[in-house]
Amino acid sequence: MRHSIALVTGTTSGLGYAAASMLAAQGCRQVIVTGRSLARVQETAAQLAAETKTQVFTPLELDLNAPTSVEAALAELVKRGRPIDFLLLNAGMVSGKERVLTAAGIEAAQAPLIGHHQLTVGLLGAGLLGPSARIVIAGAEPARGDVPMFSYTDVAAFAAKHHQGDRTAAVEALVRSGPNVKYEPNRAYADAKLFVAWWAAALARRLPSGMAVYAVSPGSAPDTQASRNAAPVLKWLFIPIVKLIPGMTQTPETAARRYLQASELGTDVSGQFFASAPKKLTGPMEAMRHPHFHDRANQEAAWQAVVKVSGVDFPSAGQLSAVP
Ligand SMILES: NC(=O)c1ccc[n+]([C@@H]2O[C@H](COP(=O)([O-])OP(=O)(O)OC[C@H]3O[C@@H](n4cnc5c(N)ncnc54)[C@H](OP(=O)(O)O)[C@@H]3O)[C@@H](O)[C@H]2O)c1
Repeated sequence: MRHSIALVTGTTSGLGYAAASMLAAQGCRQVIVTGRSLARVQETAAQLAAETKTQVFTPLELDLNAPTSVEAALAELVKRGRPIDFLLLNAGMVSGKERVLTAAGIEAAQAPLIGHHQLTVGLLGAGLLGPSARIVIAGAEPARGDVPMFSYTDVAAFAAKHHQGDRTAAVEALVRSGPNVKYEPNRAYADAKLFVAWWAAALARRLPSGMAVYAVSPGSAPDTQASRNAAPVLKWLFIPIVKLIPGMTQTPETAARRYLQASELGTDVSGQFFASAPKKLTGPMEAMRHPHFHDRANQEAAWQAVVKVSGVDFPSAGQLSAVP
């Protein structure tokens, strides 16, 4: 990380804040920290600077729910013109009890992926990712289907039932929490993080050869703000029980460290999903081997659905040649 430039999304609390702090400690030359409002993220940058006694933090306004905000952030980064070496797409949230749609008609837990896609593809198109850039996006263990109370949607079955077998249309319906989707918060969160893993796998196939992307679950770290909107049964029953069981939780710093570990991985494992060992929520991370993460048809369906919902496709080969 020494001398490199990092951009971390969702730094106003929790793991994004912890990761930004660690990146400064590791010698990053610049850490661009984002938050939904400029005033709030300016405060965050000042707090980080005071805590770490470094002057490497640059605040940037970025609301991933609003395409105009992502466009404005991209324009600002283009103006600054310095390629990013480590893009940490950390922002995210646990779905709330009630279905919430953004102004663009996207289910709230899915919205960060749409905004992160727009940001990543925009940076690639502008030549603002370094030639060996590492991209890490926050996943979560519930996408595995082995965490109590969480299960994900069987996209192939959902597509067969409601979309004549069209999996892209099925993923789009889930991203929008459309008419045939029965909203259930834990399933919405598991689906959002499953699509993150599929999106990373699909992006890996498209990136220039020196770059790599990984989906990474930081693991269970309940002392953040992640579950502030969570359904009462998760917030007041599941999480308190998990906190009582030794080995089921870790500090935000330990969790955020996984992001930095992932930034050191090679291109040979690009596109994989790293998380706690199966059935575990903490401990060392490893690549997930569950067959559903490796279903290429679903990975491509997730990619195409994200392209359609965001309206942003991967830059053509000619546009990519601008990458320094
Ligand atoms: N903590 C865990 O146990 C755990 C486990 C597995 C995965 N994760 C993942 O880790 C990531 C970080 O979570 P955390 O635990 O640090 O939670 P957190 O304390 O709530 O931090 C989340 C950050 O993301 C920002 N954010 C959320 N949605 C956004 C949006 N649409 N646009 C812009 N910013 C947005 C939040 O900003 P606002 O304050 O403005 O909302 C906040 O800065 C998430 O992706 C989460 O799903 C967490």
